[in-house]
Amino acid sequence: MIKYVFQPHGDDRGQLVALEEFKDIPFRVKRVYYMYDTAAGVTRGGHAHKCLQQILICIHGSCKIRLDNGKEKKVIPLEKPYEGLYVANNMWREMFDFSPDAVLMVLASELYDEADYIRNYDTFLNLVKNGDAVSTAEEICRI
Ligand code: TYD
Repeated sequence: MIKYVFQPHGDDRGQLVALEEFKDIPFRVKRVYYMYDTAAGVTRGGHAHKCLQQILICIHGSCKIRLDNGKEKKVIPLEKPYEGLYVANNMWREMFDFSPDAVLMVLASELYDEADYIRNYDTFLNLVKNGDAVSTAEEICRI
């Protein structure tokens, strides 16, 4: 689990965070999306990706991320606009406990591709437990 702390450029006007690919972000950013107005009690995500890498930044409000690599699970709070959580491929993720004002922004290494999703938890567990996931990623991901 890697949580980045980005360097804000602060002055008496306020704060500014700038993110550059391969400098602050360890991949080429091909897609940005964000979630807001998330209803109370909602859990989003509930999938892994074969290739996709992401950085999650809660740029306003707060939420929690549960990461599961098939062996251990961790809950990481995202509460600051200068924190970024790296989520590798082959990692099951759930986003929950959104504050009403939360804006969760995701920087993604690939365009949206339904074929990259692993949506069944047992399939995910079999992939990572058999060690297939690593070779699968190396074979089909350009990473
Ligand atoms: P969904 O996969 O349900 O989001 P989450 O993983 O957060 O639960 O996505 C919601 C909808 O948005 C679904 O119809 C697919 C669409 N979508 C895109 O069109 N492009 C994207 O980059 C993403 C992430 C989702």
